[in-house]
Amino acid sequence: VTLRIGVVGTGMMGADHIRRLSTIISGAQVVAVSDLDGEQAKRAAETAGGARVYSDGHDLIRDDQVEAVLIASPGFTHAEYTLTCLDVRKPVLCEKPLATTAEDCLRVLEAEQAAGTRLIQVGFMRRYDSGYRDLKRVLEAGEIGTPVQVHCRHRNASVPESYTTDMGAKDSVVHEIDVTRWLLGQEIVAATILMPRRTSYAHANLQDPQFFLFETDQGVLIDVALFVNCQYGYDVRCEVVGETGTADLPEPAGVHVRRALGHSVPVPADWRDRFATAYDTEVQDWVDGVGRGAITGPSAWDGYATTAVAETCVRALDEGRRLEVELIEKPAFYR
Ligand SMILES: NC(=O)c1ccc[n+]([C@@H]2O[C@H](COP(=O)([O-])OP(=O)(O)OC[C@H]3O[C@@H](n4cnc5c(N)ncnc54)[C@H](O)[C@@H]3O)[C@@H](O)[C@H]2O)c1
Repeated sequence: VTLRIGVVGTGMMGADHIRRLSTIISGAQVVAVSDLDGEQAKRAAETAGGARVYSDGHDLIRDDQVEAVLIASPGFTHAEYTLTCLDVRKPVLCEKPLATTAEDCLRVLEAEQAAGTRLIQVGFMRRYDSGYRDLKRVLEAGEIGTPVQVHCRHRNASVPESYTTDMGAKDSVVHEIDVTRWLLGQEIVAATILMPRRTSYAHANLQDPQFFLFETDQGVLIDVALFVNCQYGYDVRCEVVGETGTADLPEPAGVHVRRALGHSVPVPADWRDRFATAYDTEVQDWVDGVGRGAITGPSAWDGYATTAVAETCVRALDEGRRLEVELIEKPAFYR
């Protein structure tokens, strides 16, 4: 059986997902695409082998030919499109964020609970990276004892002028927020952000680097050093410190070259390169889950909790102090 998928948003991520669904993923076919940019949508439809083109994403979602929806339009559109998917009871893989405010996420949570069954998966692909999965297995096997600290590094070679200071939390560190919650099985309940000395490579309006300090509901301290103009490549690291040992996220595989009195290993260019296999595994898992009628990936609750933490970060940045994260009690539906 082939799952007939509609894709809303055919920009960088959408086009990449369409390519993936058309060439790598089994049991799926892209039958419809939609984008505000009609020409781009047409080109995307061609790479999918002739999908239907819609100018309005809501019309695509309502098309009877479309059985499941992948949303890859900008974050501020996600809540409305996801709500339409819930309205017609179609499974949806929504790129992060679920919504740009915790309040909008809560509207989506309410609607999914009213639908009575899990229909939403949020695109936190790091949970599908083999390295993070191995790290989680080590923690769960108790090999380093009870975790007490997590040290994360998130570095990009450079960012465009359109990348603003609050995107540090909302677009970049949101991945650490989700993946550390998942690794530890704990919620983040407080955030403090420090602004260290600026790099001269950041554009005029950007504070870079930024340093995030999170506290979990069990008192674990998580630090994330974000540096989005590090110049040398895309570098994501994570060390968990337990009571009896430490565990590191494995470095991505690459050929070690020793020559001319030196030793080098390649560094990925960006996240598409670093997490290519994770995206493939994520989308295949979603397609398979929809086929079985049981989606098991990151839930709308995870989308809500990460947005709530990211939103708190932006306020903590503005106010220059530690702030607690206000989360509703987790509904039984998501336990
Ligand atoms: N999981 C990840 O690692 C990851 C990485 C990058 C981006 N993303 C997410 O993917 C989403 C898309 O990001 P991108 O980098 O592809 O952006 P992009 O700007 O390249 O593409 C967005 C596309 O959506 C279209 N669009 C704008 N408004 C629309 C609307 N109302 N309805 C339909 N289409 C509309 C734009 O024309 C554009 O083609 C964002 O939510 C982003 O946060 C996730």
